[in-house]
Order: sequence, then structure tokens, then C-alpha cells
Amino acid sequence: MCFFTRLSRFKCSDACVEILITFSIQCLAGLTRGYLLDIMKEELYKKAIAVLDANFQEGGFTIPSAGLYPFQWKWDSGFIAIGFAHYDVEKAKTEMRTLLDAQWENGFIPHIVFHTENDSYFPGADFHQSELHPLSSKKYRSTGMTQPPVTGFVLQEMYRIAEDKQDMLNFIKEEIDKVYENHAYFYSNRDPQDEGLVYIYHNWESGTDNSPVWDDIWKTMNPPEYTFVRKDTTHVDASQRPTKREYDHYLHIIDIAKQNNYDDAKIAELSPFLVQDPLFNAMLIKSNQALVDMYIMIGGNEEKIKTILKWQSKSIESFNNKLFDAELGAYVHYDLRNEKPIRHITSSSFSPLFANIPSQERAEVLVKTMMNKFGGEDKYLCASFDPTNDRFNPKKYWRGPVWINMNWMLFLGLKNYGFTDVAARMKQDSIELIEKYGFYEYFDCRKDTGEENTPGYGGNNFSWSAALFIDMVNTP
Ligand code: GLC
Repeated sequence: MCFFTRLSRFKCSDACVEILITFSIQCLAGLTRGYLLDIMKEELYKKAIAVLDANFQEGGFTIPSAGLYPFQWKWDSGFIAIGFAHYDVEKAKTEMRTLLDAQWENGFIPHIVFHTENDSYFPGADFHQSELHPLSSKKYRSTGMTQPPVTGFVLQEMYRIAEDKQDMLNFIKEEIDKVYENHAYFYSNRDPQDEGLVYIYHNWESGTDNSPVWDDIWKTMNPPEYTFVRKDTTHVDASQRPTKREYDHYLHIIDIAKQNNYDDAKIAELSPFLVQDPLFNAMLIKSNQALVDMYIMIGGNEEKIKTILKWQSKSIESFNNKLFDAELGAYVHYDLRNEKPIRHITSSSFSPLFANIPSQERAEVLVKTMMNKFGGEDKYLCASFDPTNDRFNPKKYWRGPVWINMNWMLFLGLKNYGFTDVAARMKQDSIELIEKYGFYEYFDCRKDTGEENTPGYGGNNFSWSAALFIDMVNTP
């Protein structure tokens, strides 16, 4: 007997029947909504896989986004490998193998590996001229700068995700020493005051390329006016990208490095841009820990473990002493060239949570700052730059929009310290943004932009947004 027939036999007042019917309809609608949501998520998951697969190239690497970014980028590759690890382990291994194959003889891993001739990107291989450095790769042309050191923790994530642990451990055994050599390069060449904090010499090394943090450094420089043809603004609306004058600064720093054949000691002496970046150093520390854990799993390697632990304790101590700004309640960048902190709050300020750097007490201060300044109900977490600061711009490249790789790190970092609710919101907001806009490079953090059709920003079908969506959906 159906529910409604049963209901009609039930001795009950009219009002009571009405309530029961309304309730039943709502239950059915709820179930349908839940079902539809599941289907939507499943569709999105399939779309994420399609984005990654389409961006994977014959040469064994994945482009971040067709047209705008046509080569292999270092930290993108790491995030991408984490996405692949969930459904195509061979591609994940290939991605990392190819990146690590481009390592220089001194342990350096470049920020872009130019696998192909492609003139849709400026500045390309001919501008960077990595061959100026005597130890650069003879196999691949690249830039002469690097990007955040993700490779250590990425290998560990791949192991966590892998079903066949032994197979993945064999792969890690093949590659791990390259990561160790890369960290040794950083500590021997990028830490002139022997503090355990490494510097970056270009804003493109930070990964947060156009952050307002760099504005303070641009004010100390007066680069020549370069003549060049921008390619990025042919793919993306110019209002979302850096200005021509900002590009003059970027090119000038590279010119100085090239005039010195990318020699690290000379760069440390002469580059107008020399910064200790909390995001970059947090990733190095996270990757140090991953190296130790993996070497222990492999067995042997006592000397390497000892060396890493020495780097690690010094790094964490200096990080906490030098980069924490108690007044702001956040970690900040330090301008090593001009010997002063750059006192702005960015999403990088919270990245130490990902690497277990702050104490629990300090982590609470950080999360309070994050929620007060970035976490209003009218916003998606987590803006890339302090929304209460004059330099905040919700549409422009790293000057405000939300980036999925930062959210992924913060999600895991918040979980590390037991901030379960904020972590859940970080994940929920990331998924909602992707549902609403698609797999874009960056997103407006305002829930109401005041415009009718706000698009996602930057490149579309962007690989790390797809890869880390896959990982977040799989991580409770
Ligand atoms: C942009 C981002 C950088 C990223 C690159 C490729 O330049 O600022 O972090 O690696 O695009 O996606």
C-alpha cells in the first residue's frame, strides 16, 4: 500500500494531514537535491580529470593552461602530480620524473622548463638564456630562477595516495636524492647569513607573482623602459594582469642575473630583489620533513637524515623569530636587500600552518587574524591579499583573488592544528567556487561582486585547480 493511501486511512485532522504531506514533499525534494548535488559533483570530478588529461603533453609533462602557460612550471607540476596520483599513477610519476630530469648539476630546479618551441609566452627561452650558467641542464632550456620547493612533500603525498605502496616506494627511491640535492643547493647558495632562511631573488620565484608585497621593492628600483611584446594580455583581460611598468622591473632583475651568468653569490650581492618569503620557506620546511619521513621508510641514509634535521631545526627557529609579526598576528615577508620586514598580510602569511611551524598558541592567533580579516560571511576563503588593505584588488593576479593551491595548503594546515570547522569551510568554499565558475586560475573572493556575470579569472581549464579539486574531494 502506498504511503498516500495509508495516510488517507489514518484518522487525523485535515491540518495534520497537510503537515504530513508537506513534510513528505520536503523530504523527497531534499533527497532529490542531495542526489542532484552528487551528480553535479561527479560531473565536476570527471571534468577535472578531462582538464588534466587534455593538458598532459606528449613530452611527459602537463601545461598549467593552454595558450597562457604552454610549458612545464615547477610548483604547478607538483600539484598536478598529486591530482594524477588519484587516478593515473603512471602520469603522476612521469610528471615528477620529467621535472626532476631538468635539474641542474648544482641541484637547482628551474621554475619553467621550456620543452617545446612556443612563441605564445613572453619571456621565453631566448630571453632567459639558462645556458649562461655553467652547470645548467644540457638537455632542457629553462629559466634561471626557481619556484617554491614542493617536490619533497609531493612525493610523500603520492605515496599517501598510492594503492600500490611498494611500487610508489620504488619510484621514490629513484627520485628522492634529487630532492635532497635541491635542498642542499638552497641551504648552500640561498642563505648568505646562515640563518636557515633562504631567499628568492625574483617575484616569479615566489609563485605569488604580482603580490602587493612587491610594490615596496619596486619603489626602491628605477629600471629602464624595455621594449617587448607582451603575450599574456592576448590570452587574458589586461585588467587582471600586471602593468607594463611592473614588467620592466621583472625583466631588469633577470638582466642583472644574466649579466652575472646566474651566479648565486653575485645575485646575492647585486640583485635589488632579495626576499625571505614565508610561503617559500614554509614549503622548504614541509619538504624537509617529508624527506626525513621518506628516508626513514627507505632505511639507511643516516647522514642525510642528520643533515636535514640540522637544517630543519635552524629553519624553524629563525622562521618563528624573524618572520612572525606579533602586532599583525601573522607571518610576513622580509626584505633582505633593504634589511626590513614587509608588513602586509597575505595568504602566504598563514602557510606555516601547512608545515607545522607555529606553536598551537600561535596557530590560534593566525587563525583569528585570518578569520577577522579574510573570513567574513560575505567572502570566500581565502583572499590572496588582506581585504582590509588599500592595495587589495579582488580581480587582479595575486592582489586579492582566491587561488586553489593556497586553499589546498591552508585546508591541510588548519586540519593539522585541529581547526576542523575552518578547514571544512576552506574546502567547501574552494569547491563552491569551482562549481560556480569552473576550473579557472583564480576567483573573486566576494560572494556578491555587484556585477551580473562575474567570470573566473586568468586562464581557464587550469591544471592545479583541477588537480587539487580532485585531492580535496578525496580528503575528508
Ligand atoms: C602564474 C602564477 C605562478 C604559476 C604560473 C603557471 O605565473 O603566478 O604561480 O606557477 O602562473 O601556472
